[in-house]
Amino acid sequence: MTEPGRKEGFSSNFGMVAAAVGSAIGLGNLWRFPYLVGQNGGAAFIIVYLIITLVISTPILLAESVIGRRGGGAPAEAYRNVTGRKAWGAAGIMGMITCFMIMSFYVVVGGWTIKYLLLSCVMQFHRGAQIDSGALFTGFMTDSTAPIAYSILFILLTIIIIILGVQKGIEKTSKLMMPMLFVLIILIGIRSVTLPGAKVGIAYLFNPDFSSLTFKSILEALGQSFFSLSLGACMMITYGAYTPKSSNLTKNAAVISVSDTFFAVMAGCAIMPAVFAFGVNPTQGAGLVFVTLPQIFTQMPLGGVCSALFFFALFLAAVSSAVSLFEVITSSLMSITGKSRRTSAIIVALVLTATGSVCSLSQGVLRGVTIAGMNIFDQFDYLSSNFLMTTGGLLTVVCIGWCVGKEAFLDEITAGGTIRVNRTLASILFFIIKYVAPVVIVGTAISIIF
Ligand code: PFF
Repeated sequence: MTEPGRKEGFSSNFGMVAAAVGSAIGLGNLWRFPYLVGQNGGAAFIIVYLIITLVISTPILLAESVIGRRGGGAPAEAYRNVTGRKAWGAAGIMGMITCFMIMSFYVVVGGWTIKYLLLSCVMQFHRGAQIDSGALFTGFMTDSTAPIAYSILFILLTIIIIILGVQKGIEKTSKLMMPMLFVLIILIGIRSVTLPGAKVGIAYLFNPDFSSLTFKSILEALGQSFFSLSLGACMMITYGAYTPKSSNLTKNAAVISVSDTFFAVMAGCAIMPAVFAFGVNPTQGAGLVFVTLPQIFTQMPLGGVCSALFFFALFLAAVSSAVSLFEVITSSLMSITGKSRRTSAIIVALVLTATGSVCSLSQGVLRGVTIAGMNIFDQFDYLSSNFLMTTGGLLTVVCIGWCVGKEAFLDEITAGGTIRVNRTLASILFFIIKYVAPVVIVGTAISIIF
């Protein structure tokens, strides 16, 4: 049941946490995190990532959920309601645009995961299969029709969940998909760490070598932490508005970020030992999942089953994150136009089909079209992760720290004094939101620019 006074909402706190964890765990964990770890020296990068996630990202996640639950409604409305100022609505609109940009390349990679899941199901990557995974992937992603068809299929699956609504669509599927995802990643991890020669990969993940850590790695860790926890894109504002009044927001923020980080480290454990066991270079970039892994599967005992499990996990992770991106845009559109959920979702899907197709084509025929030296796909990824999400995060902390203020923040995280939250912890969290996070975000932005 939705609480009185709320148009839509999650039926339980577990449903809310499952949906938010579903948003956080995505391509960022399985596709990006392992190759960033590979490129930035293994364990040392993981340690920096953990510190940033604990000290900076988790408080921002909490700040977003405070704006969402206190403000209610779509992000722009929520910002306006908590601050009492109309201009803050722009921050919500920016969140909607951010989600749109992320979603435009996300649906393309989502389409690739469907293709690779199907290839795995017909045993293309079983042990002993003769494939040139590099040529297979390049041939597929540069094609002008097939990847677009798969991304449209991905959009269709997502829109069904959105049209079913918050409880029957998002909450129900998240409660089903999240436990499945954790089981899958643990199974794949067990297979990977028991391969002969896996020890070197495990050592790489857990023995820190700080000499390989550069300032750029720290910036990458911050950007990845933001992307992985879906920060700065109004996700937690949107889901916060659907959160029951009785939920403990501080505990939820901790559970969401611990689950997401645990999953990312598990993904590293599932991928790195296998990469080392087969003597492949761990610094291979974005192609790690679609080129290196299929090659490894064909040499590995139980490779066929593992590839199906892996691409199924990647698919579930991609869908549950795409649902949250889609929901931010749809709820914003519903609130701006007054149109129904179904109509708004269809409009979003149509526009996304167009922008997703352009992103897909930019890997092939439109490769020559570049903006500041990058193709459109890479530019969308770069702009949203490095610029829009960090600006969104900055607006969130400034809103809570400097406009909403400590009293209202405490009132919301204690649900009007009905939930006990340690006062010292609450003060530290507010201090981080008000002073530390803005300084770190602005400092990072300055160092990226210069
Ligand atoms: N957190 C997702 C991932 O790691 O793939 C990406 C994402 C989802 C970013 C939703 C932003 C968002 F609103």
